[in-house]
Amino acid sequence: MNAQRKMTVQFVGFILIVLAILFVISGKRVMPVPGDERHARARDVASCGACHAPGMAAPLKPGHPPKEQCLICHKLSKQRNQMSIK
Ligand code: HEC
Ligand code: HEC
Repeated sequence: MNAQRKMTVQFVGFILIVLAILFVISGKRVMPVPGDERHARARDVASCGACHAPGMAAPLKPGHPPKEQCLICHKLSKQRNQMSIK
């Protein structure tokens, strides 16, 4: 009974470590929305296409992941939020 409980604790710990590693890796791959002036006015997803749609100033690379809802993956930087308050 005791050995079994110990194994359960170890198993849960192992799962938590794996989840933590996955979380760290997934967060680092995606760069945040830059905090520069160009992006200070782009507050919602609809405005991103003005520059990032095909044929515009900064089109996405062909291999870019799913293109809906930019802000789920690209987090707004704090710097940028401060800019928009001013
Ligand atoms: C006024 C034009 C404009 C708008 C609107 C705009 N962008 Fe950009 N964005 C750019 C340009 C130009 C670059 C590339 C130059 C650079 O790296 O600063 C860029 C770069 C980026 C990058 C890459 C940053 C990096 O580190 O390589 C991300 C992510 C991004 N934009 C996300 C967004 C999202 C999300 C929106 C909508 C909320 C948006 N942009 C709206 C012009 C714009
Ligand atoms: C599913 C998550 C996800 C969504 C949704 C998403 N992106 Fe990205 N984006 C990424 C990742 C990951 C990269 C880095 C790709 C790489 O390094 O090759 C990236 C890279 C970029 C870049 C840098 C240049 C490039 O093409 O690699 C820009 C600009 C950008 N995204 C803008 C946007 C905009 C605008 C939207 C909404 C129309 C959007 N992203 C939606 C995950 C996402």
